Amino acid sequence: VNKGHGVKGLAELGLKTLPKQYIQPPEERFDPGVADQGQHGSIPLIDMSRSDDLEIAEAICNAAQKWGFFQIVNHGVPVRVLEDVKDATHAFFGLPAEEKQKYSKEHSVTNNVRYGTSFTPEVEKALEWKDYLSLFFVSKDEAASYWPPVCRNQALEYMKSSEIIVKKLFKILMNGLNLREFDETIESTLMGSMRVNFNYYPKCPNPELTVGVGRHSDVSTLTVLLQDDIGGLYVRNTETMEWIHVAPVNGSLVINIGDALQIMSNGKYKSVEHRVSAHGSRNRISVPIFVNPKPSDIIGPLPEVVQNGENSLYKHVLYSDYVKHFFRKSHDGKATIEFAK
Ligand code: SIN
Ligand code: FE2
Repeated sequence: VNKGHGVKGLAELGLKTLPKQYIQPPEERFDPGVADQGQHGSIPLIDMSRSDDLEIAEAICNAAQKWGFFQIVNHGVPVRVLEDVKDATHAFFGLPAEEKQKYSKEHSVTNNVRYGTSFTPEVEKALEWKDYLSLFFVSKDEAASYWPPVCRNQALEYMKSSEIIVKKLFKILMNGLNLREFDETIESTLMGSMRVNFNYYPKCPNPELTVGVGRHSDVSTLTVLLQDDIGGLYVRNTETMEWIHVAPVNGSLVINIGDALQIMSNGKYKSVEHRVSAHGSRNRISVPIFVNPKPSDIIGPLPEVVQNGENSLYKHVLYSDYVKHFFRKSHDGKATIEFAK
């Protein structure tokens, strides 16, 4: 009935119960209740405007090692830019189904633009309650010709204004690994390509039976995530295995370490499992920027990190092979990183 209209189309049919393709096995479902705080506290919130640079750097490196996740405020990305990109996300998903279909796998004229639903619907045993638009950045000109006009400028502005803070975070993180120089080679491996996703999680008739996004870690070096005020993102505490909620903070950005940086740092910085619940009465959006190596890059533990006699925990892999591996199966926790062992 609804083919091609995504879960948003399904939700708008006014379903009273969840279609069975979306019913997740019990172990993947969410326990009721929100835990913003675990036995070891909550996801760090870091004020980037604090006067003491050393203090900021220490907080970031600690968070990257312990949690793999932190939130930043006063990060320099104008609030206006963030509001605009949230509005643009609603505008895109509010388009008529035929308009959105132009960007689907079947119809899109380029692989760099993809409107879809769930994660890997071809192979998933249970589907995820999410629609998305994914935009791979090649150049401004290419974006101008292929990205949907309703959100193109807002996405470009968001990416452009995030670059400064991303570079600053990388400098701090590399410094924490005793890399004295942050030269162009390392910069181009850490942030050689970028992708922005617009996620749409419609309200769900049975949020307790499904997931917005299943357990996974990102394949990026770093992810910058903008979420709205609804909440639902949960992060695994790697010591206690508790799921900790990332409480929305107005004007903040959520930052997380991805697999590529875990590999490059030889395990010092953690790419941590996370997942998203479905919501019973509200439509949630989020807008991650995935900062990635270039597909043609070979990634592995950085020589500076392993030269002090440390064992390499990972082998060198072609980044595009790593990503291909991630997209071959359904979300599966941290399984992808085995490919680099
Ligand atoms: C994701 O990690 O895939 C999405 C995160 C979010 O929507 O908050
Ligand atoms: Fe993620």
